Amino acid sequence: MRITPNNAGLGARVEGVDLSRDVTADEFRTLLRALGQHGVLCFPDQDLDAAALSAFGSRFGELEVNVANIFHAEGHPEVMHLSNMKDADGKPIGLSDAGQGWHTDMSYSKEIALANVLHAKRVPRRNGKVLGCTQFRNMHAAYDDLPAEVKQRIEGRTAIHDFAKFWDMMRIRPGSIRGPLTPEQRAKKPPVPQPMVRIHPITGRRVLYCNSGYAMHVEGMDRTESDALLDYLFRHQAQEKYFYEHQWNEGDVLMWDNIGTLHNAVADYGPDEPRFILRVQVMASLDYAALAA
Ligand code: OGA
Ligand code: MN
Repeated sequence: MRITPNNAGLGARVEGVDLSRDVTADEFRTLLRALGQHGVLCFPDQDLDAAALSAFGSRFGELEVNVANIFHAEGHPEVMHLSNMKDADGKPIGLSDAGQGWHTDMSYSKEIALANVLHAKRVPRRNGKVLGCTQFRNMHAAYDDLPAEVKQRIEGRTAIHDFAKFWDMMRIRPGSIRGPLTPEQRAKKPPVPQPMVRIHPITGRRVLYCNSGYAMHVEGMDRTESDALLDYLFRHQAQEKYFYEHQWNEGDVLMWDNIGTLHNAVADYGPDEPRFILRVQVMASLDYAALAA
């Protein structure tokens, strides 16, 4: 197995491992450490079905099952289809607008996520240019660079994260087919407090855990102060130096750290430019500090 870091401060390519077979305990530990260190791991030229993707993902923790959603692989409710494609009857075959806006998966949930693992089957291109890229930001580096005074202000603080913030942002976009959240959906995803600074379980370093997709306000601060602080943090983390963009190839498996990075799906392709991706979401359900040691 060869791990080649990108020179972007985020991201690495992992070659020489076939993810359709069981990874060994040694490989698992190496990959876990690499996930913390590089944030985004690309395994090119893989060929996994839903069962194999699920098996690989579940080595890292419990897989989230999106109960409300119909767009999953047959027999594998934990494997979602992300796609803008339609079947012969014109019905969508996947979630068509996942992640289009900066966010961190599951920060709105009491149980947070460790990672996402996506596997590209179809990638849109126009005139040779790859479309539908996925972009990332490095929250280890963003934390490290904060002024000491800001680090002090956010240490031990919590912010309220709300699933509905991202949902409502998506709904008002032109062409959105999302309806308002029903009271039942709303009740299933109540707003939750999250520490603004977390110790990353793999690296043991502090990360800024606060994303504009879900973070609403800082607990124990009045509105004006909270808005100003969040606005400052969202601008800070948006700097170019923390940015990395993954350009997809068919066969890529992309695994990213949902504690130490933010991500955004670029919606620059049309309905006739098919994109099809399998996804599992890995919850942070294991003792990663012990597993990475
Ligand atoms: C996700 C997501 C990004 C993409 O799966 O969590 O945000 O590029 N998707 O599809
Ligand atoms: Mn996402």
